[in-house]
Amino acid sequence: MARALVVYESVFGDAKAIAMAIAEGLASRLPVDVASARDAPIQVSGDVRLLVVGGPNHAFGMPRQSTREGAVRDQGADIPDTHYGLHEWLDRVQLPRIINAAAFDTRMDHPKLITRLDHAAKSEEKLLRGLGATLAAPAEHFFVVDTKGPLADGEEDRARRWGHALGELVAARPANASG
Ligand SMILES: Cc1cc2nc3c(=O)[nH]c(=O)nc-3n(C[C@H](O)[C@H](O)[C@H](O)COP(=O)(O)O)c2cc1C
Repeated sequence: MARALVVYESVFGDAKAIAMAIAEGLASRLPVDVASARDAPIQVSGDVRLLVVGGPNHAFGMPRQSTREGAVRDQGADIPDTHYGLHEWLDRVQLPRIINAAAFDTRMDHPKLITRLDHAAKSEEKLLRGLGATLAAPAEHFFVVDTKGPLADGEEDRARRWGHALGELVAARPANASG
């Protein structure tokens, strides 16, 4: 049976909350698994028809070892392994030959002049395309009010609705189609 998989990286819990809300929305159409990048399978099983990935913006892009170490040093974050997160998972993972995908990120909602440089979700999309996935929908961005959260008002509901819409989109396609 076709399934969905949501894989996230999250330092302070906001991207995780968004991943969970997306999964709730998806669950109206597809059975769905959610995993942190650290726990996600390196070989995604052939019955996964939709892969959704996302995490925070760090220094305008996807978290990397130096920004994770910065979060530990400067923000007191608790990150068990600063070497490994979503980017590293996407560097290693093997996907089914035909799979739909979508990307999200979390970012600050201010100052706009700076946050417009944020491109974590764009990098996720590039990695997904490089893995042969077909992007099912444009990336979505979810806002936090400060570095350690919380999420801005209404963002979990918006994520739930986005997940629901992705589920509708993918469930409507024939099993062997991804474009
Ligand atoms: C090291 C570090 C760098 C950050 N750089 C950015 C940034 O460039 N742009 C931005 O919008 N938010 C930045 N933030 C704030 C993150 O967007 C915020 O911590 C994240 O969205 C919260 O998600 P999480 O709770 O899942 O970690 C940064 C946070 C950290 C810890």
